[in-house]
Amino acid sequence: MRADVRADIEKLFDRYPEKRGALLPALHLVQQERGFVDLEAAREVASLFDLAPVEVMEVLTFYNMFYTRPQGRHHVYVCTSLPCSLRGSRTLLRELGDHLGVRAGETTSDGRITLGREECLGSCGTAPVLRVDGRYCENLDLAAARSIVDELE
Ligand code: FES
Repeated sequence: MRADVRADIEKLFDRYPEKRGALLPALHLVQQERGFVDLEAAREVASLFDLAPVEVMEVLTFYNMFYTRPQGRHHVYVCTSLPCSLRGSRTLLRELGDHLGVRAGETTSDGRITLGREECLGSCGTAPVLRVDGRYCENLDLAAARSIVDELE
């Protein structure tokens, strides 16, 4: 962890009644630095917060906005909760994976796209839904989904 990131984390401590309250914003700062928070970084954060590394890893693996390994330049997540599944999202995920040469949770060999699945995005009426770098893409079929991912550089 860079010294400036460490200093920014220490500044967060004053904003919360308990140091631990600053854990989520601190993890965002660490992730901004490298794009992910691995075990080594989790150990450093744990040391700053007087926590066991496993406590930091529990937080990292609970929230899907944190990544514990290197990611692609773009995130493509397919909602696989029930309404989207009933509208073909699981098939869409598998076919997109075949198109990209990866499975859910993996990154393309060129580092362009990380493909994943996630729970309901709250847009069930427009299923199936993809989240592409935070943007919702709705009412998709495979052709439309392929076109979206193919445009990502
Ligand atoms: Fe996919 Fe709700 S189930 S958006």
